[in-house]
Formats: sequence, C-alpha cells, structure tokens
Amino acid sequence: MNPADAASAAPRAQHDKFEELIEGMLERGFGVCNDFLSPALLISLRSRLRSLYADQEMKAAGVGRSDGFRESGKIRGDVIHWLEPNVDPAEDELLAQLKSFVEHLNSTCYAGIRSQEFHFALYPSASGYKRHLDQFKSDAGRLFSLVIYLNDVWLDSDGGQLRVYPAGGQLEGLDVYPKAGRAVFFRADELEHEVIPAPLRERLSVAGWFKK
Ligand code: OGA
Ligand code: MN
Repeated sequence: MNPADAASAAPRAQHDKFEELIEGMLERGFGVCNDFLSPALLISLRSRLRSLYADQEMKAAGVGRSDGFRESGKIRGDVIHWLEPNVDPAEDELLAQLKSFVEHLNSTCYAGIRSQEFHFALYPSASGYKRHLDQFKSDAGRLFSLVIYLNDVWLDSDGGQLRVYPAGGQLEGLDVYPKAGRAVFFRADELEHEVIPAPLRERLSVAGWFKK
C-alpha cells in the first residue's frame, strides 16, 4: 500500500482534531470536532455514564460557586458525576486524551492551563440549561470549556441542541446538535450559550473546563 493510502485509511490524528477545535474557537468563537472520540471510547464512556446513572451516582448539578452555590432545577436540569483518575478505564483514556489537548494548548497557544475539571452529565428528557457563561463571576479560573457528546444516533428533530451566541453574531444564536462523539470548544468567559431541551430523549455528555 502506498503511504498516502495508509494515511487516508487511518483515523484522523489527534493533532488535527485539536487544531480543528482551536481554529474554530479563534475564527468564530467556538470550535466543533465531529470525531473527537474514537467509536470504542464513545461506547465505553456511554456505558460508564449509564451505569453511574443506574447506580444513582449522578447528582443534581449546582449553579454558581461557594457563596452562591445552590441547586437550581429552574436554571439547569442535568445530573452530573465528576471524572476521577484510576476509577474506570474509559475515564482514564479520556483523561489521557484531555491531557494531550492541554499540552497542545499550552505549547501552541501559551494557554497557561494548570488544572481541569470534567463531569459526566445526563439531561433527562425536557430539561435544559438556560443561557449562561461558564466562568463564575467570583472565580476567573475557568479559561476554556469543552463539551463532548455521548448520545447514540441523534436527529436534529430530537432537539437538545447547544445554542451559542458568539459576540457580534446573530442575535438568535447558532445551534450545534449533540451528535455522537462530537466535541465543542470555546472560551469560558466569552461565549454565552444554552442547552435547549430535548422533549423526548435523555441527553448524554461529558462537560468540563481547563483552568489557570
Ligand atoms: C454546561 C453546558 C452545554 C452542553 O455544562 O455548562 O453549558 O451542550 N453544557 O451540554
Ligand atoms: Mn455552560
């Protein structure tokens, strides 16, 4: 086989996926990569999330930080579970991929990322997350947001889209559907966004932040 054929048959290099996320973020305020997860990792993360949910290890998420921390089903309806190292092989594989992304961001963009926090999220059908910014007013630590979708086949008619409002962009926002293996990347202090409810489906993801 000639080398060009081998390259086109191989899965896309991680480097290219990272660049796609960064370029989108720089050019229009948010980057999208449709094959951020390998099919195998997607399936194992989805089953990990499903078993956490079945074991009631996912809890209602809060809004805001220490001073104003409260659960609020009015603002957001998801349940979450924070990723930790050395608990589950799929989580570890994703954390390794995220570590490579951080190294890429720090070396190519001087992003100055020193820590991160990521959680699984499940939005029950008909629940969403009202328009917000991810960076807490009282804590400027969150630099970048990354959301990765774990849903099986998702149709636009299912709803559940992430609606983003790039500064100076369209007032009505732009929609990104939570398709299997897709990742979305943006600045935590700049891009307002919301999660539109999916009326009839649960919506599965990993969401998190790279921090100073
Ligand atoms: C969040 C969030 C977006 C999404 O968790 O802060 O905005 O598409 N998630 O799940
Ligand atoms: Mn958010």
